[in-house]
Amino acid sequence: MSIEPLGMDAALCFIGGKWCAPETGQTLDLINPSDGSTLCAIARGQAADIDAAVTSAEAALASDWGRATAVERGRVLARIGALVLENIEELAQLEALDVGKPLTQARADVVALARYMEFYAGSADKLHGATIPYLDGYTVYTLREPHGVTGHIIPWNYPMQIIGRSVGAALAVGNACVLKPAEEACLTALAFAELAHRAGLPTGALNVVPGIGAEAGAALSAHPGVHHMSFTGSVGVGKLIQTAAAQNVVPVTLELGGKSPQLVFEDADVDAALPFLVNAGIQNAGQTCSASSRILVHRNRYDEVVSKMAGRYGALRAGPALDDLEVGPLVSGRQKEIVEEFIAKGADLEVAAQGHVVERAPSGGAYVAPTLFTGVAPDHRLAQDEIFGPVQVVIPFDDEAQAVQIANGTDFGLVASVWSENGARQMRLAKKLRAGQVFINNYGAGGGVELPFGGTGLSGHGREKGFEALYGFSSLKTVAAFHAEKD
Ligand code: NAI
Ligand code: MG
Repeated sequence: MSIEPLGMDAALCFIGGKWCAPETGQTLDLINPSDGSTLCAIARGQAADIDAAVTSAEAALASDWGRATAVERGRVLARIGALVLENIEELAQLEALDVGKPLTQARADVVALARYMEFYAGSADKLHGATIPYLDGYTVYTLREPHGVTGHIIPWNYPMQIIGRSVGAALAVGNACVLKPAEEACLTALAFAELAHRAGLPTGALNVVPGIGAEAGAALSAHPGVHHMSFTGSVGVGKLIQTAAAQNVVPVTLELGGKSPQLVFEDADVDAALPFLVNAGIQNAGQTCSASSRILVHRNRYDEVVSKMAGRYGALRAGPALDDLEVGPLVSGRQKEIVEEFIAKGADLEVAAQGHVVERAPSGGAYVAPTLFTGVAPDHRLAQDEIFGPVQVVIPFDDEAQAVQIANGTDFGLVASVWSENGARQMRLAKKLRAGQVFINNYGAGGGVELPFGGTGLSGHGREKGFEALYGFSSLKTVAAFHAEKD
């Protein structure tokens, strides 16, 4: 495949403002999940390449990037955002081929990446400290400073959105970044590095080292030159990242997915809820950290919701990303196996409805028919574990207390939504639900880049997105000046 339009060589790393081969010269094959073919070779970065990337980030902090004012940082982020938008079709195509994401969803991710650049461009010169009233003779103020070198390990499901929210905020504060994209999908990360470079981002402010998690990823998370780690991915790897960062006593932001519920009450506007109930489960083939995989429904509306959701499932088609249907393939044959194993665990359950894989879908693609299970006990594995595929379970409840108990009854706590016309209930549940985001009569709020995001429990900790992210990507310094009164 040619990725010439974006001027990068996918088999290289981007370090110190240049494309360079990994030290070992080794590469990995990148697979197109729509048909199983090999797209191209990517670099198999290792510890030596991570080391070079950290050194380059340190050099950037000691020179142009470290000296850039907040206004200058904002301007370069704005230029990156504009270039991203100018290349929307090229980026969307790359993401569709690489992740298997239907084109419309891939385009939405490009727009989100541009929005993150715009938002953090505008916020770079608005992050400031405070003055603190103190003892006589003192002036006390705080400074918000960059951590230094920030490490970013991202997954394959939303590469552009996750680069936007973590690298965008880190750069706005003045950190220099080392990014390790996922081995399953890293083309848009490489394209982003090229666009950022063209937009004038100083040398070394952003370095990208593709590679395997246990190699390049582990090396980055353990590197003593890294001052903050941002990770999005599985719970197991999140624990490894936090453990590695603990050896260097550096902060981590972990976003580890969830089992997010939508609560449909007796008084809900079910027809308004319906598209959200289904789309939140099948968007990106269910491979979304904030996917809504559990639908909790008051018993009096249960049959109606199940039958209306089943109607929508019947119309869902899974097919090649470039066909731009409702659902694409999963990211890899391995992810397809994981999801199929989960579906097999539902052999004792009732399948209320399934979508279908279109006939023209190549047999080598990683397709799974969207599946809706009903009559699921809240403690069933399918109602407890993150499936990360187009699979939803519907669970009945009898009253508000039971709904909250079921909603909060997993180890996760990322997002939740409440469908009800009762204002007091909306407010009560917004407080009671264990989640980093609660939506009332919607789900996801259009994914706004302005909205702080992150979880509790096994969903992780720390907040990204919105202005709040700037606090996480900065370090607070308190300055206390003493100036005795002269008479
Ligand atoms: P993963 O957690 O292994 O991969 C995410 C990133 O971590 C990738 O860049 C990978 O290279 C890196 N990584 C892997 N092992 C590492 C290590 N030892 N040290 C440092 N970095 C490492 O997730 P995977 O295997 O792709 O997916 C497995 C499951 O994880 C999914 O089925 C899903 O449940 C969950 N997941 C959740 C995501 C979310 O958005 N919260 C995103 C991706 C996966
Ligand atoms: Mg893994």
